[in-house]
Amino acid sequence: MAHNPGALYRLFYRSRQTPEVSADLDFQVQQIIGSSISRNRSVGLTGLLLTVQGHFIQALEGNVAAVRATYARIAMDPRHRDLHIIAQGPAGKRLFGDWNMCARSLAPSDKAILEVLDSKGGFNKEALTAATVERLLTTVATIQSRTALEALVS
Ligand SMILES: Cc1cc2nc3c(=O)[nH]c(=O)nc-3n(C[C@H](O)[C@H](O)[C@H](O)COP(=O)(O)O)c2cc1C
Repeated sequence: MAHNPGALYRLFYRSRQTPEVSADLDFQVQQIIGSSISRNRSVGLTGLLLTVQGHFIQALEGNVAAVRATYARIAMDPRHRDLHIIAQGPAGKRLFGDWNMCARSLAPSDKAILEVLDSKGGFNKEALTAATVERLLTTVATIQSRTALEALVS
C-alpha cells in the first residue's frame, strides 16, 4: 500500500554525544534547540529531545519527507555519533504536538523513570525498544507539560 505523503510519520533514534558536547551540555542543547525550532515549525515537525547519561534520544514527527530530511541532516551533525534508529513508521496522532522541539535532561533524580525502563534501575540504551522509547519520551513530555504549567501559575 502506498504511504500517503501527507500522513503523520514518527521516528525515534538514539545517539552518543561527543565528549565536547557532554562537557558543555546546557549550552550545546540550547544551541541545537535554538536552531531547530524555527526550522521544524516551517516544515510542521514536532518532537522532543532527551539527554540522558551521555546520550541523546529524540522523537521527530511530521510528514514523512520532513522527518526523513531532518533526520538525514541531524545524522550528519558532528555533535553526536553512533546514531541508531529505534523505531519509525506511520503514526495516528502527534505525541509531542506542543513543541516544535523541546529538550529535557534526565537526571539521576529521575531514577523512577529509569527504573520503569530497566529493572536494574539504570539507563540501558540497548533495552530501548519501540515500546519503551515511546513510553519514556511520553512520560518525559507529561512531566515537561506539568512543569511548564506550574511555572505559569506560580
Ligand atoms: C541531537 C541533535 C538534534 C537536532 N535536532 C534538530 C531538529 O529537530 N531540527 C533541525 O532542524 N535541526 C536539528 N539539529 C541540528 C541539525 O543537525 C543541523 O545542525 C541544523 O538543522 C542546521 O543544518 P544546516 O547547517 O545544514 O543548515 C539537531 C542536532 C543535534 C546534534
